[in-house]
Amino acid sequence: SVPIVRTVFDLRRIVAEWRAAGEKIAVVPTMGALHDGHLSLVRAALTGADRVIVTLFVNPKQFNSAADLAAYPRTEVEDAAKLAPLGADLLFCPDGDEMYPAGFATTISITGVTEGLCGAQRPGHFDGVATVVAKLFLQTQADLAYFGEKDFQQLHVVKRLAADLNIPIDVIGCPTIREENGLAMSSRNMRLSDTERKTAIVLAATLMESATRIAVGAPVEVTLSEARDRILSAGFQSVEYLELRAEDDLAPLSDLERNGRLLVAAQLGETRLIDNVQVPFQ
Ligand code: PAJ
Repeated sequence: SVPIVRTVFDLRRIVAEWRAAGEKIAVVPTMGALHDGHLSLVRAALTGADRVIVTLFVNPKQFNSAADLAAYPRTEVEDAAKLAPLGADLLFCPDGDEMYPAGFATTISITGVTEGLCGAQRPGHFDGVATVVAKLFLQTQADLAYFGEKDFQQLHVVKRLAADLNIPIDVIGCPTIREENGLAMSSRNMRLSDTERKTAIVLAATLMESATRIAVGAPVEVTLSEARDRILSAGFQSVEYLELRAEDDLAPLSDLERNGRLLVAAQLGETRLIDNVQVPFQ
């Protein structure tokens, strides 16, 4: 089984021993309800470091609504059981008061990469992410941090955070893990009904097909407008955004003049799904 630690005090004691022994430490931040996407990050971390800390904290500061926070799945026992066979060294599960004790007053706010996409749709979301990730980086003092490309804008935000604050940690992005039908794995997929699951597949399929078309020279605006129609006619309530951005700095692209990333967020029943794929420039 994987040892569970709930306080920063205990975490630091263990980390200090590892550091004293010269071991390389990786952190994999999560909000739990672990699936194969999360586990792929843990596996990557285990190959890159001597010690792997998985963190599990459903961060209230990054949720836009109390209902969404309350509905977020919490499966700590199952999560710990999934981590044990992989060989993760520690599961850090702080509670709300440990992370944000009375009097907590700091917010980390990042401009540029947080603008548009999820940043526009979810005010304050990336402040919440940046604040908790900065704390996790400093609490764990890890040398390496593993994040999924599934949350592509978040990956950019976290890289910016580490660079701007001179946090000595290498942020490593890992590919999105998908179900066989193409649907990107997400803790939120648990909430989909059987019918919604079938509809959800259309999102990934449309994204991949549009990316291929744009990569071989189809006009961006027309392709994206057709893709939007297809997602809506499949049964999604709304498409929050569907945009082509530059892969390296998330700048909007009206033409594919360098490597791009096609990013989407769409609402399906009660569930908001996001996904993104690369659009290679050749
Ligand atoms: P969470 O949604 O639990 O995701 C934790 C990590 O797993 C993130 O880096 C995310 O990009 C990655 N991930 C999720 N689904 C994936 C998939 N299908 N394939 C590959 N990686 C995937 O993202 C968060 O939590 C939070 O915002 C957090 C960074 C922990 C801060 O609270």
